[in-house]
Amino acid sequence: MEKAREAPEKIDLPCGESVTHRTAPEKVDALTQEILDLKRELNAVILAHNYQVPEIQDLADYVGDSLGLSQQAARAQADVIVFCGVRFMAETAKILNPEKLVLLPDMEAGCSLEESCPAEDLAAFQARNPNFYTIAYINCSAAVKALSDVICTSGNAARIVAAAPEDRDLLFVPDANLGGWAMEKTGRKMTLWDGVCYVHVEWTYNALQAIKKEHPDARVVAHPECVRSVRELADEVCSTEGMIAYCKRSPAKAFVVATEPGMIHRLKKECPDKVFIPAPTERCACNECRYMKLNTLEKLRDCMRRQAPRIELEPDLIERARKPIDRMLEITARAAASTR
Ligand code: 13P
Ligand code: SF4
Repeated sequence: MEKAREAPEKIDLPCGESVTHRTAPEKVDALTQEILDLKRELNAVILAHNYQVPEIQDLADYVGDSLGLSQQAARAQADVIVFCGVRFMAETAKILNPEKLVLLPDMEAGCSLEESCPAEDLAAFQARNPNFYTIAYINCSAAVKALSDVICTSGNAARIVAAAPEDRDLLFVPDANLGGWAMEKTGRKMTLWDGVCYVHVEWTYNALQAIKKEHPDARVVAHPECVRSVRELADEVCSTEGMIAYCKRSPAKAFVVATEPGMIHRLKKECPDKVFIPAPTERCACNECRYMKLNTLEKLRDCMRRQAPRIELEPDLIERARKPIDRMLEITARAAASTR
């Protein structure tokens, strides 16, 4: 029997900071069982992002990137969607499937990209520049989605940018690095919002060069939220799900991974015979996303017990935010059908 709730295990990081987000190992099995029982009682589906802690990934019904998670949320049949990721992802699930109860274990799970683009600032910019066609990375608030023409994820950004109308000026919000990468891939010029992922900009050219020297046979995979000099050093730049596909099909045996280290658990599971080396940053080797890591097994269990915190959005906002997401899903589905 599990004891009354204890303080979560404290982990000391090489940078001198400490985090307390992990579940003590001896509690994992009992908590997992409790969550699976609650899942049956509620008729729930558990969706988890690739950066979630291993113990959450291991019990989820689906683990993937933002694109895969939004596709899963759109087609979910369960009564309840329990979203183990950050708030903008859970909001997207609610927008795509508004009849469902959508739970998020910790409502504080934000995103530095979302914070960098307040809807009022975007609305003011659009009022000054009415010719802009706005492409928004899915890492933004529902209010920003509602002001946008189309949404993209890291998994389809180049495709979405390539499909934008030729006769309009393009504005890409909020990630300047993903937007820059999409410009390089498509040749389309865009005005970029000045936002960054605080996690991915920590990887530098020097840190990547140093680890490449240590592992000369390893391939480097980087997320497009990394800065250009890091992207240029990488053998493959792609979404987190793209990393799984690339590492599976590559003949290489070792990979340096420049994205949030939660990714390593999934990579090891999918490619058990390969070696994955988390890319070091210059300041701290373990560059975890503080928002993604707010979710723990305890909070997951508690949110299912209480059926809260839940995502609540005004119907009018859902309607407006849904249009650009549907446009993204249509473009992506058309492209997938044409390659079959
Ligand atoms: P992916 O869609 O590639 O998983 O990226 C989400 C994210 O937040 C990256 O930091
Ligand atoms: Fe946002 Fe960066 Fe965390 Fe992804 S890793 S959720 S982009 S802060």
